[in-house]
Amino acid sequence: MPALSAVEGYRRWAPSYARETAISALEDKLVSAMTPPLAARRLLDAGCGVGRRLTDCGAAEAVGVDPSAAMLEAGVGLGKVASGVRTLIGDVHHLPFPDRAFDVVWCRLVLGHLADIERAYAELARVTAAGGTLVVSDFHPAAHAAGHRRTFRDDDGVHEVEHYVHDLSAHAGAARAAGLTPTATREAAIGPDVRDFYEHAGRAGLYAAHLDLPVVLAIAFRREG
Ligand SMILES: C[S@@+](CC[C@H](N)C(=O)[O-])C[C@H]1O[C@@H](n2cnc3c(N)ncnc32)[C@H](O)[C@@H]1O
Repeated sequence: MPALSAVEGYRRWAPSYARETAISALEDKLVSAMTPPLAARRLLDAGCGVGRRLTDCGAAEAVGVDPSAAMLEAGVGLGKVASGVRTLIGDVHHLPFPDRAFDVVWCRLVLGHLADIERAYAELARVTAAGGTLVVSDFHPAAHAAGHRRTFRDDDGVHEVEHYVHDLSAHAGAARAAGLTPTATREAAIGPDVRDFYEHAGRAGLYAAHLDLPVVLAIAFRREG
């Protein structure tokens, strides 16, 4: 079955997206550890999905942008200011914000859906304040090479969402061209923290076979002045 486009995939995944998965749980732990304290800082989550990482994040200002109305509506709500979170429709290729508007910017599990990441890095850098932090996460190239795909299940079965592999050097090159300096690179692998996800899905065999396989890549950058 061909992979769904990101637009169609997230339209269909939206109702159940907030349910954590092994990937999302590992990703959240990684990005949380790489994000500076958010109190008194302005935060943008570019490609925020249902906005689950923005709720109660503690930022002085928390803004989420995503092209999928279905995702926003399934989560914190579209165009709403709720629990200190503001959401709007937007694309990481053309972020609807002035230059340097945010102290911290996240772009989490989004870039793998883009064929080309240069323009996205340029936009992410543009809206990050000088000295500010960008944290990017992506589905790990090693997971893709091992045959893992970005999938979800609904009443019609299991669906794959289109994904483009960008290795670490592609991220680093696009970021450098945008005026971003890497400050930390980390990865998260399948391990005991997420064993329950595999067992509850009846996939203990996959867990055992792919133990220690890196599945999430995360990079933090400083925006140069
Ligand atoms: C795997 S979800 C991640 C959602 C959220 N960042 C999280 O970690 O829970 C990927 C999200 O990327 C969004 N997306 C896809 N293409 C995008 C684009 N060009 N600009 C911004 N977001 C995009 C999708 O709509 C979807 O909500």
